Amino acid sequence: MYLHWLKNFPVLPSDTPVDLSPSELARQELEMAFPEKDFALTLSPALGDTFVLDLLGATVAITGGETGLLYGAYTYLCHMMADEPLPNHLESSPRYPLRMIDCWDNMDGSVERGYAGRSLFFEGNLFSYDPARIRHLGRLLASVGLNVLCINNVNVHEPAQGLIAESLPALSALADLFRPFGVRLMISVDFSMPLRAGLDSADPLDPAVQAWWEAAAGRVYSEIPDLAGFLVKADSEGRLGPFTYGRSHAEGANLLARALAPYNGVLVWRCFVYNCRQDWRDSSVDRPMAAFETYQPLDGQFEKNVILQIKNGPFDFQVREPVSPLLLSLKHTSLALELQLAQEYTGQQIDLYTMVPMWQELFRDLPADRLSAIAAVSNLGRDENLFGHPLAAANLFSFGLLAWNPQVRPEMALESWIRLTYTFREVDRQILKNWMMSSRRIYEKYTAPLGLGWMITPHTHYGPNPSGYEYDLWGTYHRADRNAVGIDRTAAGTGYITQYPQELQVRYSDPSSCPDLLKLFFHRLPYDFRMEDGRTLIQRIYDDHFEGAEEAAELAKALKALPFPAPDDQEIALRADRQVSNAKEWRDVINTFFHRLSGIPDAKGRTIYP
Ligand code: GCU
Repeated sequence: MYLHWLKNFPVLPSDTPVDLSPSELARQELEMAFPEKDFALTLSPALGDTFVLDLLGATVAITGGETGLLYGAYTYLCHMMADEPLPNHLESSPRYPLRMIDCWDNMDGSVERGYAGRSLFFEGNLFSYDPARIRHLGRLLASVGLNVLCINNVNVHEPAQGLIAESLPALSALADLFRPFGVRLMISVDFSMPLRAGLDSADPLDPAVQAWWEAAAGRVYSEIPDLAGFLVKADSEGRLGPFTYGRSHAEGANLLARALAPYNGVLVWRCFVYNCRQDWRDSSVDRPMAAFETYQPLDGQFEKNVILQIKNGPFDFQVREPVSPLLLSLKHTSLALELQLAQEYTGQQIDLYTMVPMWQELFRDLPADRLSAIAAVSNLGRDENLFGHPLAAANLFSFGLLAWNPQVRPEMALESWIRLTYTFREVDRQILKNWMMSSRRIYEKYTAPLGLGWMITPHTHYGPNPSGYEYDLWGTYHRADRNAVGIDRTAAGTGYITQYPQELQVRYSDPSSCPDLLKLFFHRLPYDFRMEDGRTLIQRIYDDHFEGAEEAAELAKALKALPFPAPDDQEIALRADRQVSNAKEWRDVINTFFHRLSGIPDAKGRTIYP
């Protein structure tokens, strides 16, 4: 089995019992790895996920709660296996109690936006998995402190509605496998479920609907008492929701939250709500404003066990977006940040795209204490290496570190991941780390420019198509003409900018002081607009695209020269070649698109196709 960053760990025994507690697993892991060492583990249940680790001569002492001991053990083991020093005394607690991975797996075995093969959990409308791989996944998640796994798509396609009915025993068997690793399951449920069960309504204020959800929760928790809760996508991209019954999203979320409350379950309610049937002719509607408009007026109306889950940006996981204003504005509601490890718009685990530098930027604008949970859409699948691109594993690894501590330094996270995964000389390690650190900027340069987003092939979301979404229903327009490009989102334009706190309004309002990389997110600018360094906007677009494609070629060359072991060497080389072609295609299509519109030549006379 492909062991990833745990490759220096002893193989997990195939008979690891399902009733092993996390603290017992902690002892087993430590003693298997270092039979000659003396480990003093002290269980202090009140500490929960927290641990205190002391290196006392020959003794390694760890005090912690059930899961705290496990995280302490993995911290120790990862440091030893990576040959990284540990302080003699370390106290560590996660920043967020819920550190979640959301899988978008369907029971037919497909994975929505999955780029690493089919589902790890389902096939043929049934649960179908290899228990050894599930335990390995549990171990990977726990080794970086992740503790909740939502196993099915937020678009709940049949028969997944049966996960809280006829499929409960199978769900419970899967939960058993993850339990020793401190990983609790969550499931996506659909607001329409009462209709499926024969009720004539799903109205949150209907007592029969309320009773139905209460009974459903009771059934689920009698099988899986530690289920983390439910995740819901409602009134979004065609899913039924409270709007159908003239109810608010607080009324909708509270219906489910009340049903879960007796069991300490949480209701995670996604805020990805916008009009996906917009008329492109109508410039009065600006999609990024939608979530704020829906949820801001409801602040404070949610039950205590509701968590609103909000994507990092106001659109949808584009290469660069400003922080979602909703994340900054809700003051009386628990919030989860939603990131996407699946590289839907960011190269689909073909192009290299390392995310931790991007998350670090986000946390500069997002005070960590605004959140109570953090989630990421999974990049996992049934491929032998679980991630498609071997280097995409670093995104899950560093997400775990970030969820534990949002101040994690990207270089440190990548350094640890590389040390654990590859036996490289220092010089090679640094080369790989530097390219991984640069990979997001490279991808950004050759794709949609300067915060504009969306110039991607519709629906599949790989490769360029500058006007693919332009005359469509999705609210994602660039409105480029021969003079200018972008949408004015200032107070004088759509007004989107007024959703931000004052400081960010000031930063972004003036096109001259708005950072270049976000200029076309906030402003409509003429092609001769002067950028920070004096270049014109159009020249900046051309330059970025030429540079991005060149850098992708250099990246490919550098990756191919590194001593990756088989089969990673081949996988990486294959993907690097595809990235180089993709980058060229993007460069030429985007440059030609803007050249044809503007008629302005490249000042450096490089090839732009007519
Ligand atoms: C994107 C993605 C969809 C997904 C949706 C969501 O729009 O393309 O596949 O269902 O996000 O986050 O719900």
